[in-house]
Amino acid sequence: MSTERTFSIIKPDATRRNLTGGVTKMLEDAGLRVVASKRIHMTKEQAEGFYAVHAERPFFNDLVSFMISGPVVVQVLEGENAMARNREVMGATNPANADEGTIRKVYAESIEANTVHGSDSLENAAIEIAYFFKPEEIVG
Ligand code: CMP
Repeated sequence: MSTERTFSIIKPDATRRNLTGGVTKMLEDAGLRVVASKRIHMTKEQAEGFYAVHAERPFFNDLVSFMISGPVVVQVLEGENAMARNREVMGATNPANADEGTIRKVYAESIEANTVHGSDSLENAAIEIAYFFKPEEIVG
């Protein structure tokens, strides 16, 4: 067991429905601590850069449009095995496949409007955290 940091986004479908608190409560109840958080409205360039790994995927343009359709809340989450724990509480990418009690099962509208993003590896977590936060903005 080790204390880790991972990166999370509460997506526009959730901020639109006033679910920032509801999603954050589920993260906290799963043992994750919010050690940095800010509400931002991403630019197109920011969203394209963040999802650059998906640039060749057919859903890329729609994904970018969705992510800039409203504010998001970017967060750094800390805890024991935070990366895997966050992915567990998020549930499957497609809410139709998400387990009962997961954030996406409870809140997600579709595979695109799926309420949360979470880093898929510790390496990506470090990259994604640095994409949005300065070290001094993270207070553990
Ligand atoms: P996220 O974890 O933010 O990473 C990439 C996002 O692309 C994913 O969540 C989904 O919201 C979105 N997406 C849209 N369509 C698809 C798809 N067919 N397969 C995977 N991800 C998709």
